[in-house]
Amino acid sequence: MKLIGKVVIITGSSSGIGRATALKFAQEEARIVVNYKSNADGARDVAKEIEILGGKVVCVQADVSDSQQVKKMFTRAVKEFGTVDILINNAGLAKAKPFFEITKEDLETEFGKNFFSMVYCAQEAARLMQKNGGRIINMSSICGGVDSSPCTSILTFTTAKAAVSMLTKVLAKTLAPKILVNAVAPGFTLTRFWEGMSKKDEGALLETTLTKSWVTADEIANAFIYLAKSDSITGQVLVVDGGYTINNR
Ligand SMILES: NC(=O)c1ccc[n+]([C@@H]2O[C@H](COP(=O)([O-])OP(=O)(O)OC[C@H]3O[C@@H](n4cnc5c(N)ncnc54)[C@H](OP(=O)(O)O)[C@@H]3O)[C@@H](O)[C@H]2O)c1
Repeated sequence: MKLIGKVVIITGSSSGIGRATALKFAQEEARIVVNYKSNADGARDVAKEIEILGGKVVCVQADVSDSQQVKKMFTRAVKEFGTVDILINNAGLAKAKPFFEITKEDLETEFGKNFFSMVYCAQEAARLMQKNGGRIINMSSICGGVDSSPCTSILTFTTAKAAVSMLTKVLAKTLAPKILVNAVAPGFTLTRFWEGMSKKDEGALLETTLTKSWVTADEIANAFIYLAKSDSITGQVLVVDGGYTINNR
């Protein structure tokens, strides 16, 4: 798929990986919907950068764990740009909590943010893509099935990301042949998620990878671009982890 002029929604693009992805798609001359939940300043900054690049962009506030807000976000995207060609289901957040303290509310909230949100967005996107085709690319994690060892303290996130990886495979079959569905599973990627970590902990964490370094948000963005352009890859979870997985098998 050529990306020029294509309309891409990137959920959670007010910071981190989503932000880097929005900028990469803008460089490819796609039209961008920057979604955010609370960080309006971050979303505005991304939009400004895209406009400086000469790109077309709209910012839409929506909590993607709420199906009604997701519907409104897609309605806004269609009003602005006419359709949606690519969905990057990126928004998500990990919250640590000991197993015995996890409540029904925690499960609902965490699965709402990290999994239900992806289903709601994929439903709206697939409806729009049915005629002309499209791409849905989900954000998983190495926690979501590759290896649970760095993820035991964030049980709800880990299990939600495992669900995202399987959702990707099921949707690839359900939505073929016009809509291709894939996921990216990052390893340790330097964003605000890791802020406040001591140098000692950072050293120990990166020692578990083969590259001995952080994955950058830009590299994850490149993986999204690669999968969006592909006309042959579907149902895959692309691991981008500096060799963490192979080093820990
Ligand atoms: N960093 C890593 O090492 C790593 C590894 C594996 C997977 N991931 C995944 O990568 C994705 C991006 O994370 P990041 O590291 O780039 O962290 P980040 O900078 O904190 O970005 C998270 C983004 O998600 C948005 N968001 C969260 N909940 C939302 C909701 N309910 N509705 C709409 N937007 C919501 C945030 O928006 P607001 O701030 O505006 O609320 C923010 O833009 C997440 O799915 C994360 O699980 C990250």
